[in-house]
Amino acid sequence: MPVESSIITTALQNDAVMGLSCDPKYLLSKYFYDSRGSDLFREIMQMPEYYLTGCELEIFRNQKKIITEALVNNTERFDLVELGSGDGLKTRILLEEIIKSGAEFRYVPVDISSEANRELVDSLAVNFPDLPVDPFTGDFFRLTEKLNGSVSQKKVILFLGSNIGNFNDHETNDFLTFLADICSTGDRVLIGFDLKKSPGVIMDAYNDSHGHTARFNLNHLERLNRELEADFQIDKFEHHTTYNPLGGEVRSYLVSTDQQEVTFKCSGDRFRFSKWEPILMERSRKFDLSKIKTLANDHGFNVIRSFTDSKGWFVDSLWEKQ
Ligand code: TRP
Repeated sequence: MPVESSIITTALQNDAVMGLSCDPKYLLSKYFYDSRGSDLFREIMQMPEYYLTGCELEIFRNQKKIITEALVNNTERFDLVELGSGDGLKTRILLEEIIKSGAEFRYVPVDISSEANRELVDSLAVNFPDLPVDPFTGDFFRLTEKLNGSVSQKKVILFLGSNIGNFNDHETNDFLTFLADICSTGDRVLIGFDLKKSPGVIMDAYNDSHGHTARFNLNHLERLNRELEADFQIDKFEHHTTYNPLGGEVRSYLVSTDQQEVTFKCSGDRFRFSKWEPILMERSRKFDLSKIKTLANDHGFNVIRSFTDSKGWFVDSLWEKQ
């Protein structure tokens, strides 16, 4: 097994054991994205109900010029680092525009899925043969090791698609502290935030009638079966989604429809489920502009601009490190 994959498998096992030993049980959403999960997420992104991708695409298509000008605010060479690059669908629009602007930069896509990263690198080589691409596969937080050699390099960091909404308060704080640490004064970050809106619209996006979201969640258990030799009976778990307009948080659960026991053959760990016991699979938080400003200021950033779609459902917020 290549070193990268064995590190990820060990982390997957430790995190799964930790999450399933807690009360209430949870699994970490970053492990949704194995190769099958990345494919299933692409299907989610293609559904009309999953408005987030469409909103952000509209922002990029209509405002790529001003976004590029704001991102590349002088002629210095920089690293364009994208955290959670996935298939790079939206980023391609920006890449094309930044290349056109004549800016000198290197693109550093960071993703937990090695397959997604490989496919992205291959397709970028076809579309942008002269663009220097230097991918990193793994957890964001390990990126510091890679960037250490180039701390003085000017950076622009992208964190798109509402990925930030998948963190709880504590994780958001850790993540923004990490961002502040890897940025020098004047570095810029562009973060996608899904905004609060009609709860019905949000529920349709996260609880679709085609079953894509349910399959995406269940794939997490199938991944544990594949990689940790677990014995989850997939048909004994039911997908359930809630949205609480008070905090602005979507939660995805897999609920055990029976009393059952699951064993990880690789480690011997056993987990008991009572009938109707849930596993919290994911949270997806929705924000408003004042909360975004507070998050930026609390972590040493200023909000420079907000790029919003025509419906006002989504914002790409541009911050500069103080
Ligand atoms: N980052 C995506 C989001 O919060 C991930 C996602 C979309 C997701 N749909 C989901 C995660 C359903 C779990 C369940 O929008």
